[in-house]
Amino acid sequence: MNTAPFLSVSGLSVSYGQIRALRDVSLRVFSGEMVAVLGANGAGKSTLMKTIAGLVPPAAGSIELDGQTITKVPAHQRPGIGIALVPEGRKLFTPLTVEQNLRLGAFSLGKSAGKALVHERLEEVLETFPVLADRLHALAGELSGGQQQMLAIGRALMSKPRLLLLDEPSLGLAPRIVEDVFEALLTLNGRRSLAVLIAEQNIREALAVADRAYVVQLGKVVIEEDADVLFDRSDVEDVYMGRRSDLVD
Ligand SMILES: Nc1ncnc2c1ncn2[C@@H]1O[C@H](COP(=O)(O)OP(=O)(O)O)[C@@H](O)[C@H]1O
Ligand SMILES: [Mg+2]
Repeated sequence: MNTAPFLSVSGLSVSYGQIRALRDVSLRVFSGEMVAVLGANGAGKSTLMKTIAGLVPPAAGSIELDGQTITKVPAHQRPGIGIALVPEGRKLFTPLTVEQNLRLGAFSLGKSAGKALVHERLEEVLETFPVLADRLHALAGELSGGQQQMLAIGRALMSKPRLLLLDEPSLGLAPRIVEDVFEALLTLNGRRSLAVLIAEQNIREALAVADRAYVVQLGKVVIEEDADVLFDRSDVEDVYMGRRSDLVD
């Protein structure tokens, strides 16, 4: 069995000026694994996702993907090496159609994505999310919240990632819709042996689908645990998911 992690983050520190958003964060995701990053507002979840996607430069630490150090690979090249981010708040192009949004997901691959390849990817994504096939020519802004989240995930899948980063996909969705979205993620994760890293404040729902979890508090990993073990720990919500106090040392 290959026991090397697919994604390995080591000693990652990120600052925005005086604010230290991540402090010495280390985490791993194995191929085919779904891993949750849990934490309150301001804990550093988005910063971690953005740093792995190359959108924020780390002050220290390294990121390895499939054994290669990618810490300095520019953001626009990361889809090409297999990393796709579904950003917080979805960031869809709401005046464009569902199909146009999906095609923009392949755009990140650059010239290497020929017409035939884009078509093939589109078919795959529509097969994964049939609800998008039904609304292909609707404007993204006309979709329901759940459909918009599916579209944001579908757009990320257009680059056929090996690592999918999801930043708070449940935000603003009704509980039943959250379950639908997470169910779709589980199917994807199993079928494509995709590695999934999912940042959430909705810890119950996230732990129900994840294999392992990291709890982040004030930019530090404070718990690393199997999801089912953490699910049974009643203190996590109260102790670690409360509102942030202060980041100043
Ligand atoms: N662009 C930015 N400039 C300055 N501070 C930021 C910026 N983005 C995030 N922060 C700060 O970094 C910390 C972590 O934020 P973030 O990663 O967004 O946390 P989370 O996603 O867990 O809510 C917070 O204190 C936040 O205010
Ligand atoms: Mg965030």
